[in-house]
Amino acid sequence: MYSSKIKGLGKYVPENIVTNKDLSEIMDTSDEWIQERTGIKERRHIKKGDGNSCAKMGVKAAKIAIERAEIDKDDIDLIVFATLSPDYYFPGSGVIVQDVLGIETCPAIDVRNQCSGFIYAISVADQFIKTGMYKNVLVIGSENHSGGLDMTTRGRNVSVIFGDGAGAAVLSRSEDDSKILSTHLHSQGQYSKELSLIGPSTQHWVPEIIAENPQENIPYYPYMDGQLVFKHAVVRFSEVINEGLDANDLKKEDINLLIPHQANLRISQFIQKKFQLSDDRVYNNIQRYGNTTAASIPIALTEAWEEGKVKKGDVIVLAAFGSGFTWGSCILKW
Ligand code: ACO
Repeated sequence: MYSSKIKGLGKYVPENIVTNKDLSEIMDTSDEWIQERTGIKERRHIKKGDGNSCAKMGVKAAKIAIERAEIDKDDIDLIVFATLSPDYYFPGSGVIVQDVLGIETCPAIDVRNQCSGFIYAISVADQFIKTGMYKNVLVIGSENHSGGLDMTTRGRNVSVIFGDGAGAAVLSRSEDDSKILSTHLHSQGQYSKELSLIGPSTQHWVPEIIAENPQENIPYYPYMDGQLVFKHAVVRFSEVINEGLDANDLKKEDINLLIPHQANLRISQFIQKKFQLSDDRVYNNIQRYGNTTAASIPIALTEAWEEGKVKKGDVIVLAAFGSGFTWGSCILKW
């Protein structure tokens, strides 16, 4: 059995910064409320006509990751693309990345696991490399939330949280000690509606939505029971981090850096306290980008690496929880 390692990382965020004050001018919210409840100060939103899309932001992050991995685009054996906001209903965004990168043909898989999407995508890539089937897998997490949010007071509990952006990693067969030690994945569909966007879909076709068009609970905007999500998140984050540590005979003291999915700064702080980690052992950047869902972990990991916070031999823990509900962790030795 082979092992995989992260050989290159990249990120891309749109230039357009949207501050809490900007939002308070278009809906009934405030900088104070948003910072106190979520820790978010600003986020990035695509601007119409700036040439970005979910797949195209993924390509920009991927190009950096490929260059840093010192491989050629044609060495990529598989693309795994995680998102909840794909360019199209179909086809998936992975094939668009393959085309824009100029790879003539290669397999491309889309992963639809929301905030846990990048952990699921890493796990898929890791299995293909472990079996020896592929040597280099491009893993992308990208989100274009901004166009699909309810930017009125009605949607404020959701729309102030989310931001756009992309992160990418090249996973390659490891030739040294650096490797992905394990990944751990879970889902509980019992809560599928608690954080969801249910239409347009095969359950809610467009004519039906237009005909019904209720003023409350509009199915083409995201719905979230924030408090329920928060309660489950803090429990599942802890469980799945412990599951990963136990599987590798590691203790919380062995964690050099924890990168939690950037859902809410309060959730990250709760986990930090629970695992008694000092500030330099947890990486957060939700203050600047909001919740970028499948992109949040690869953006944070790239920034942590760029800032020299990820060092050879370090034990890095990635963990996520989100819509599905789905959750997962990934334990790496850098
Ligand atoms: N600005 C001002 N007031 C607001 C806003 C806003 N943006 N949003 C809601 N409020 C109001 C509510 O209407 C409510 O008012 P009321 O008391 O008069 O009824 C009050 O603020 C409190 O609302 P709550 O929803 O109870 O606020 P809470 O403290 O729970 O914070 C939040 C909301 C930030 C959404 C929190 O519940 C949370 O972060 N939940 C977890 C989110 C998460 O982790 N998501 C998972 C990842 S996302 C994914 O997978 C796609």
